[in-house]
Amino acid sequence: MNNTDLVFQSYGRCCRKDDFFVDFYEFFMSSSDAIRNRFAQTDMEAQRHLLRHGVMQIILVARGMSDRKLRDLGESHSRHKYDIQPEWYGLWEEALLKTVRVHDPEYTPQLRQAWKEVLKPGIDLIRDAY
Ligand code: HEM
Repeated sequence: MNNTDLVFQSYGRCCRKDDFFVDFYEFFMSSSDAIRNRFAQTDMEAQRHLLRHGVMQIILVARGMSDRKLRDLGESHSRHKYDIQPEWYGLWEEALLKTVRVHDPEYTPQLRQAWKEVLKPGIDLIRDAY
């Protein structure tokens, strides 16, 4: 199996419980007060659903799908709208990898590496649109 297959299946196991996204935002917001503040006015239930699709988009783009929706996320996260600092994406990635470790019963260090490689082009695209 290649990395995108491994990650696609891992994400399927993670998404079986809504807690995955609850825990992700808990970890992510704990990584910095500046990040927690960005979600102070956010409907987190809606946000968890949006993120579920956002992560799937990143995986599908790594599998060869059009990156149009990720380019829209790049625009919304850029200095022109949410003004998300490029250095925050490392914290986002760390929080996601930690959540996978906690939730995927088949987690291994090799799977973590596969996730990193699959996430990289999507994260770079959104961050570099800053
Ligand atoms: C590659 C990583 C990321 C993905 C896939 C992602 C995904 C999303 C999605 C799907 C939305 C909703 C659609 C939209 O409003 O455009 C969103 C909104 C948002 N994201 Fe991200 N995001 C990422 C990184 C970050 C980071 C690093 C931050 C830093 C704080 C952040 C903060 C926000 C905020 C503040 C909103 C709007 C919340 C609201 O409507 O109140 N995102 N994100």
